[in-house]
Amino acid sequence: MSAGRFITIEGIEGVGKSTQVAVLARTLESRGVEVCVTREPGGTPLAERIRSLVLERGDEDLSPIAELLLMFAARAVHLGGSIEPALRAGRWVLCDRFTDATYAYQGGGRGLDPATIASLETWVQGTRRPDLTLLLDLPVARALERARRRGAGSDRFESQRLEFFERVRRVYLERAAREPGRIVVIDAAGTPDEVAAAVARAIGERGWTT
Ligand code: TMP
Repeated sequence: MSAGRFITIEGIEGVGKSTQVAVLARTLESRGVEVCVTREPGGTPLAERIRSLVLERGDEDLSPIAELLLMFAARAVHLGGSIEPALRAGRWVLCDRFTDATYAYQGGGRGLDPATIASLETWVQGTRRPDLTLLLDLPVARALERARRRGAGSDRFESQRLEFFERVRRVYLERAAREPGRIVVIDAAGTPDEVAAAVARAIGERGWTT
């Protein structure tokens, strides 16, 4: 059995992640790869319940620390219940967001210390890290405009101001600059087909046999 691969797709709201996850899954499946498509927060029934808690705008405030812990609680459930078993079975896991989003949103957006995030990352994930991360990138104003057109804007993150997303994007790009071997920045300004071609190139360049 060939080794499973763990690929994550990241970026701010409106860059077209979901479309690209779906296209990439179809492309890989047509090449005979067994694919597990999933997302964070979420990916198992229990982790999806945690997702609802963390995204809904309730009456009670959710502190940044509580938000961070819920993200990692959902991740612990997701890793044990879905990601690790799929990788062990030789499947390729395509995950819409993972821990880079925690650095970007809870670290950059909410201002939490990245060292705290790093210790939770090690505690929850051990040595598990994505084999490849595709960072779809667009200027914030353009991405938010796209997100608004598709009707986003109501959850606890979508309702944040432009400056919040500027900080999120900055952290994503800083992480990509620090880890160029793992994180590939993809210009999301093109048509969905152009972006899909860039995604396919990034995977092809790995030389992974399928
Ligand atoms: P989605 O709508 O792209 O599926 O993501 C849900 C929201 O959760 C999105 O606004 C980003 C946020 N998020 C975090 O703040 N931290 C995380 O670790 C993850 C995975 C997502």
